[in-house]
Amino acid sequence: MNFMAKKRILLGVSGGIAAYKSAELVRRLRTAGAVVRVVMTRSAKEFVTATTLHTLSGEPVWSDWSDDKSGMDHIELARWADRILIAPATADTLARIAHGRADDLLTAICLATEAPLAVAPAMNQAMWNNKATQANVDTLRERGVRVWGPATGEQACGETGPGRMLEPDALVQRLSDSFANGRLAGLKVVITAGPTREPVDPVRYLSNRSSGKMGYAIAQAAHEAGAQVELVSGPVALQAPDGVTLTRVESASDMFRAVMVCLEDCDLFIGAAAVADYRPVEPQARKIKKQAAELLLRLEPAPDILAAVAALKSRPVCIGFAAETENLQEYAQKKRMQKGVEMIVANRVGAGLGFETDDNELWLVWEGGSRWLPKAPKTRLACQLIEQIADLYLKQPSGLKAPEPHAKHSA
Ligand SMILES: Cc1cc2nc3c(=O)[nH]c(=O)nc-3n(C[C@H](O)[C@H](O)[C@H](O)COP(=O)(O)O)c2cc1C
Repeated sequence: MNFMAKKRILLGVSGGIAAYKSAELVRRLRTAGAVVRVVMTRSAKEFVTATTLHTLSGEPVWSDWSDDKSGMDHIELARWADRILIAPATADTLARIAHGRADDLLTAICLATEAPLAVAPAMNQAMWNNKATQANVDTLRERGVRVWGPATGEQACGETGPGRMLEPDALVQRLSDSFANGRLAGLKVVITAGPTREPVDPVRYLSNRSSGKMGYAIAQAAHEAGAQVELVSGPVALQAPDGVTLTRVESASDMFRAVMVCLEDCDLFIGAAAVADYRPVEPQARKIKKQAAELLLRLEPAPDILAAVAALKSRPVCIGFAAETENLQEYAQKKRMQKGVEMIVANRVGAGLGFETDDNELWLVWEGGSRWLPKAPKTRLACQLIEQIADLYLKQPSGLKAPEPHAKHSA
């Protein structure tokens, strides 16, 4: 399976002969759907050019401190990455990371990052077998650095033994696997995403600014967590994540019907869609003609999908979203009680916030607990949200409770 879609991969390239393979690695990572930024050591530039890696990645390439234009690029890059992979990792770079050095941009990023770090060593077999290198690699492993390879075989120097960098395909697969976790294995999760469109007449509708990015990111994160995922989506310009079943709908009633069909054997329902609260009472069969007089549109409440799912006799654990412009925490608490759901995920919306952006910040509230997830890409927030849901869900019966009197799903 491929879990690389939209993942932010920082590829470190150090100065070994295998650096020529880093160009192919960038290409394969991008084909798998990742966004790739490259940081080269100074020695790496002797083996492969920044121009090649820039062209293939479609992103700037960093190397010397002089490339750190803002003076804070090393911190920004450290925060930007979902994963850092150094391939090839020379004996020297491994030694410098093991000793916590920050004497170039790449090692400084490794020191500053909280993202998981993987290294793909590549060197002469005697360099690899040397006790100093082995001690450095042991130190890195103890600190949680993933050491992928080296493979054994014929080497550029003519010797045979361990020290060949793993092939680009194998490294892409390992990176992809590193995003998979079985936290929701065996569970079925139904997720709604995007806006709805409520018809006014055949050419006009009422809708909202939801881009669907949050819901789609949650669908991908739930899939990575091993769940069977059904995504019911309003009209958005996004592709369904690999491995996720997608049903496209238009209006709140369409979404309501589609959700009810998907609910069989569903364990978790996550309502991330921005479903219309109101819809025109009488959508016109013909286009309304422009006229000088005022036009009044009568609206009625649209179906409340979250409340309806939460009110079902036999129902999944329900998680709803709240988009608020003010009093976020107070409204989220209220909404949880009103809808009778186990968790509300609240986010602030308004100019540059929430809708149509790649970043977001979330406040999660459940019975007896809450958690603030600070501003981050929606893809990363989605993974944190799914982890939090899994933590609480697996703690059943105490972890995720609906407010009384709603019955809790027997998991
Ligand atoms: C032609 C040539 C090939 C090299 N190949 C490797 C190699 O495969 N692995 C390695 O660890 N060092 C290799 N080195 C040595 C590194 O380039 C050297 O240790 C350098 O300081 C590494 O710097 P870096 O880790 O900052 O990139 C090679 C050097 C030369 C001149």
